[in-house]
Amino acid sequence: MRSKIAGIGYYVPERVVTNDELTKVMDTTDEWIQERTGIKERRYGRKHEETTATMAAIATRTACERAGITPEDIDFIVFATLSPDYYFPGCGVLMQRELGITHKEVGALDIRNQCSGFLYALSVADQFVKTGTYKNVLVVGSEMHSMGLDFSTRGRNVTVIFGDGAGAAVIQPSDDPDRGILATKLHADGTYAEKLAFINPGCHGGYHFKKLGEDADFGYPPANTYGEIFLTPHMMEHGQYYPNMEGQFVFKLAVQKFPEVIREALDAAGLKTSDIKLLIPHQANLRISQFVQRQLGLSDDQVWNNIQRFGNTTAASVPIALCEAWEAGKVKDGDLVCLAAFGSGFTWASALIRW
Ligand code: UT7
Repeated sequence: MRSKIAGIGYYVPERVVTNDELTKVMDTTDEWIQERTGIKERRYGRKHEETTATMAAIATRTACERAGITPEDIDFIVFATLSPDYYFPGCGVLMQRELGITHKEVGALDIRNQCSGFLYALSVADQFVKTGTYKNVLVVGSEMHSMGLDFSTRGRNVTVIFGDGAGAAVIQPSDDPDRGILATKLHADGTYAEKLAFINPGCHGGYHFKKLGEDADFGYPPANTYGEIFLTPHMMEHGQYYPNMEGQFVFKLAVQKFPEVIREALDAAGLKTSDIKLLIPHQANLRISQFVQRQLGLSDDQVWNNIQRFGNTTAASVPIALCEAWEAGKVKDGDLVCLAAFGSGFTWASALIRW
């Protein structure tokens, strides 16, 4: 048995934030951002009103409608995000409550695989459906980055890239054995975990830095005292509670791993790059997508990019882009669609879908 995407939806907040708007709070320029990333604008959610879980609920309602079901019919939830509403519990249960389906007590699994989160989630859903365990698995990627970024010049290399949004898909058994999810490939390598990371607040206590032989002062009290390990006044004072990234390091690995994992999925399905009708890459940087496109010999028409309008929405970027492409009529029955992502962890993944 195969599984298929029976319905897909996305939501982005109304508020458009241009590059010029960011120049008012940090030392950056529209020219730098466009040239290095391709981004012209991104969306930010309404503070105190919208959250990662509420945006996901909106995308879910659309996905359900298009799959011909109601949220009540969902029998398992897989939720991917790196910007959860709470440290715990995860967004899966919060979205379940937001959708008003808590009485059904369906399982909710939270996935923490950053930019690859949606693809990891899709693969989990695929296994559950293929084995006949569930019939309507909801897969969600949602991010409210704007609540946790450093809007000073110190954070500019990360902050200008990210935007808010959500995407959701309903995964069901496919009635046609030749159509649906043909292959998913998942990878991870924690060697460079800190190269793109959001480490505080956390329970690491500086351990990994010590082991890596790196000097890092988080202002911890002596080891024989209680408390103040998770979030210290020193972290607050020195802005050590924001995401950080070594951009060029990440870039170099991304352009290597994207083509690799795409080819791996094609091999598994007995297909070639020339069979791909549309590639939906994770929207990390327009230059990365263009590099991957060249590597695979695809035309502009075969790659969907929307980073120009939405920035990088991490776990939400693949489902938002896929949904947009589908709405634009670029994904038709029988088309071979390839999804691929690379990000923090590092984790990377791909999926091949015969639509
Ligand atoms: O989605 C998860 C996976 N993420 C990625 O794949 C991201 C991969 N990396 C990238 O996309 C790029 O490395 C960035 C867009 C993050 C950065 O672009 P870059 O061309 O690699 O720039 P850089 O980090 O090498 O910085 C070049 C210069 C530096 O100044 P100096 O040292 O040359 O004087 C930075 O301080 O650009 C400066 N800079 C900025 N200037 C204006 C960094 N951020 C900004 C900014 N505005 N926002």
